Formats: sequence, structure tokens, C-alpha cells
Amino acid sequence: MTGQPFGSYQNEIYLNGLGGVLPPYPMAFAELEDRARTALPTSVWSYVAGGAGDERTQRANVAAFDHWGLVPRMFVGAAQRDLSVDLFGMRLPSPLLMAPVGVIGLCAQDGHGDLATARAAARTGVPMIASTLSADPMEEVAAEYGDTPGFFQLYTPTDRELAASLVHRAEQAGYRAIVVTLDTWVTGWRPRDLATANFPQLRGHCLANYTSDPVFRARLARTPEEDPQAAVLLWTQLFGAPLTWDDLPWLRSLTDLPLLVKGICHPEDARRAKDAGVDGVYCSNHGGRQANGGLPALDALPAVVEAVDGLPVLFDSGVRSGADVVTALALGATAVAVGRPYAYGLALGGADGVVHVLRSLLAEADLIMAVDGYPALADLTADALRRVPPAVAGEARH
Ligand SMILES: Cc1cc2nc3c(=O)[nH]c(=O)nc-3n(C[C@H](O)[C@H](O)[C@H](O)COP(=O)(O)O)c2cc1C
Repeated sequence: MTGQPFGSYQNEIYLNGLGGVLPPYPMAFAELEDRARTALPTSVWSYVAGGAGDERTQRANVAAFDHWGLVPRMFVGAAQRDLSVDLFGMRLPSPLLMAPVGVIGLCAQDGHGDLATARAAARTGVPMIASTLSADPMEEVAAEYGDTPGFFQLYTPTDRELAASLVHRAEQAGYRAIVVTLDTWVTGWRPRDLATANFPQLRGHCLANYTSDPVFRARLARTPEEDPQAAVLLWTQLFGAPLTWDDLPWLRSLTDLPLLVKGICHPEDARRAKDAGVDGVYCSNHGGRQANGGLPALDALPAVVEAVDGLPVLFDSGVRSGADVVTALALGATAVAVGRPYAYGLALGGADGVVHVLRSLLAEADLIMAVDGYPALADLTADALRRVPPAVAGEARH
């Protein structure tokens, strides 16, 4: 892919069409979602697609993008676009990232979705943020990254020694940043999963980072291989620490890698995290999976960006298209992540399906920048956006 603009994916698709070959994966998000629903086992589908409560925050995350419009500029001659971005000293080909998805392992037909996602990262240059909840150990996931940097997402256990062990393993395995998720020390109220009493980790899924960890193993009387149920029980006891600001200096002390905090939506929290020495904040409401009745994450983004005054801000929640990526960038995100879209691509086509989803997002973003005359990410500022009147925005999804 190197050397070609991201938009050239459409040339490939049209040229294949001349040979009678249609794209094997959906081009529209709605169809991607529909096909993933039929491809995934029902329990995995509801875990991935579902959210908290009646899911109105999850829907609001998506709808929030309808309220912004980019103003086209002409005579710009945006023949070349530069989507590359500098993040913690890494030059990334684009500002797109794959958000940590804890059951991504189960979304692949072979149960090794973390590895397939890592291969897609290697092929696209789009970094994967690997979840603590993984079907394969982080070392094996990292081995598939190729030249693309990987980030490790930490669910901070109540056992500090275990937390340190996970972080040090991530360092050893070559991860380039640690993303600490703050909004999920306890699981939010999720009616879809409750209705089927389904929680994958309690069934022993996606615990490989724990069962392969020396500190975790040392806490067990018998090995996880001998007594898997005891391992699950221990996991339930250790999983999530309800962190306070007093814990942040300790988290900071665990690593010299760039440290990010995920789940930040209030400018005061963003400012305080910056003061405590984090390297970046990650504005997200967990895709509406954790707390219903909240604001769309996009609406929180501008104030978070302003509060940290130049510190990198990652963003996710509700991004479904290249147009959404452009909007989040214009509202100040340094990099933009997707969750469910790549999980659905994985369900349909393994690594190939993920690559298709990522290339489609990037192609659309690139072509919008071309058509609308914004050749560089630096050109995408809040000044380039206007509010879409609510009545018009309301109609946009129909
Ligand atoms: C099935 C699923 C599992 C997730 N697991 C994690 C996780 O392990 N760690 C984490 O920080 N966020 C997790 N998230 C949240 C994502 O990182 C991200 O915030 C969210 O998916 C973004 O919203 P989107 O799905 O609308 O793109 C998960 C999301 C989904 C859909």
C-alpha cells in the first residue's frame, strides 16, 4: 500500500469490477453490521453489538456526527494528501487506530481474532490497541505486528503486582504505549447480555494474558490448565480496580512508555491527568457500552482537546465512516479509533475483512480531503466545520 494514496482503494475496486469481480465485503456500514449479525454466534453478536441500558448513548455516539458538516474549499489543488501523524515520536501513515476490543478473539471464525487483527495492523500500518482481555497472550499478538507499532491496553487489576507484571510484559514484547482504561473496573448494565446471562470471560474466554502471567499463576494452587474454574474465579476477584487520582502516580511509575488514560470526557479530568504526567488522553465513552444516558463522546471532545492544550488526544465511540474520522480530526482529535467496525470485518473475513474495513475508512477520509480541499491534517480544524441544523441532521440517518 505504501506510496499509493489511501483513496486509490476505490480504483482497485472499480478495476476489479471491469473483470466482473465485486468487492467480497460490504461497502456500507449498515450492510457490514447486518452480515456480521448472521456470521457471528448469537451470544458473541449481542456482546459486541450491544451496549448499556436501552443503548441510547450508543446510538447518540453515532448520531452526533450528523450534527457537523465540513465546508468545501475549491481551487486548492489537493492532488496529494498527507494523513500521516506524529504520535509519541512514532510517524504513523494515518491517524486511524483500532480500539481495544476484549472479545476480538472470539469474533474470528477460528477463535484467534487477536492474531488476525494484528496481521491486519501489519498490512495497513493501522496500529492495534491490544486489550488485556485477549484469546492469545500479548507476546504472540505482538509477534504479528510487522513494522506497525502496537499499543497495550491495561485493565488495572486490584493486585498491583499483577498490574506491574502485565505492563512489564508489554514493554518486553515491544508495545509502544500503555493505554489504561478507566471506565470499566465494573461492567455496565447491559440488557442484551443479561437476557442471555452471557459474560464471555466468566466462561473462561479471552483470559490468556492472565493465565500466561507468572504473577497470576503464582496466586493459584493449581495451574489454569489443571483447574480452569479456579483461574476464572481468581480473575473475577482481581479484574478491576476502582482507581482514584491517588493511583495515577503509581501507574505513571510503572513504565517509561507513553501512558494514556482512556475514558476521559470531562475537561477537568483531562487537565488533571495531564498535570499528573500522562502523555495523552483518550476521549471515549466505551462506545456506549458502559453507562447509558450519557453524552455522545463526540460532544465531549472539543473541551477535552482545549483542556490538555497540545497533548495528544485519541478519540473513539461512534465512528462509522471516513467522514466521521474527518469530523473527529477537525474537532481536535490527534488520532481516531474504531471498535465495532473492524470487529465486524473480522467476523466476515478474518484479517482480510479487517483490512477491507480499515482501507475503506481511510479511502473515504482521503477522498473527502481531496474533494473538499483539505490536503493535510493540519488543515482540518474546527473552523472547517459548521453545525448542521438539528432538523436536517435528524433526517440524515433516514
Ligand atoms: C465487544 C467490545 C469489547 C470491548 N473491549 C474493550 C476492552 O477490552 N478494553 C477497552 O478499553 N475498551 C473496550 N471496548 C471499547 C472500545 O475500545 C471502544 O471504546 C469502543 O468500541 C468504540 O466505540 P465503537 O464501537 O462505536 O467504535 C470494547 C468494545 C467492544 C464493542
